[in-house]
Amino acid sequence: MSIGNYGISREIMKDTPYNIIPLHHRPELMNQCCKLLNSEWRRSEKARLISLSSSCDKFPTSLVLLDNDKVIGHCKISLIPSIDDCCVIESFMISRDNRSQGLGSILLRGVEQYVAKRGIKQILLTTRDQEGFYRKNGYSISEPLNLYKLMDYMNSINESDKEKQINLIKNIIIEKTNERRKELKTQQNNAFSGAPPPPPLPNLIEKKRQYESPYTYMCKKLS
Ligand SMILES: CC(C)(COP(=O)(O)OP(=O)(O)OC[C@H]1O[C@@H](n2cnc3c(N)ncnc32)[C@H](O)[C@@H]1OP(=O)(O)O)[C@@H](O)C(=O)NCCC(=O)NCCS
Repeated sequence: MSIGNYGISREIMKDTPYNIIPLHHRPELMNQCCKLLNSEWRRSEKARLISLSSSCDKFPTSLVLLDNDKVIGHCKISLIPSIDDCCVIESFMISRDNRSQGLGSILLRGVEQYVAKRGIKQILLTTRDQEGFYRKNGYSISEPLNLYKLMDYMNSINESDKEKQINLIKNIIIEKTNERRKELKTQQNNAFSGAPPPPPLPNLIEKKRQYESPYTYMCKKLS
């Protein structure tokens, strides 16, 4: 198997114009990448660029899928402070025009090879509605991240590392909160759109839904 610069096998993109690279190695692509992400998850450009510019050779790293010089896919990889040899992936996407051609699987394979080369043994993620895609790629349902372990970890590290980790966690929480706000707003707008409301659900189901997390937690152990 021939291995490219970043530990990603050339085989998965053989005879294609595609390439997977860390975004910070091509900073001129930052704005393109920002637009791509905002086409799926609307967020202020400034906040998005700040988040993208944290990409570095040590994690967090944004990997992008390129079609020649066009950014058509993205994945952010971060370490999980409380769990050794483990990373979390987020903002994983393929541009609308390029979906259903196997490119999501190619990018995911590239991400797995990239992190495995850097000693990572397990990938975790949360998803709202793409469970099927990840299952096809060998991921299975897992437990939510253990917050108690996280607290133990936070108590054990020095102040400057603590600040970095707090900022990382803050960004994840802000991103998830904004997503949830947007979704609630869309639901409210739909409620006032004049369309007849759906029939009420039986009480029990409705109650259960209130407490269920909308996210599915998934993981894959890398061999
Ligand atoms: C999820 C996403 C990355 C998939 O990318 P893609 O390039 O369309 O996926 P692929 O073509 O590589 O699909 C691989 C396989 O998964 C299947 N698949 C893709 N999405 C699926 C879904 N939501 N449910 C079930 N199967 C799915 C495909 O049918 C294909 O199956 P096959 O190998 O039997 O043909 C893309 O749809 C996307 O960017 N969505 C919007 C952003 C998003 O939701 N990201 C996930 C955040 S957790």
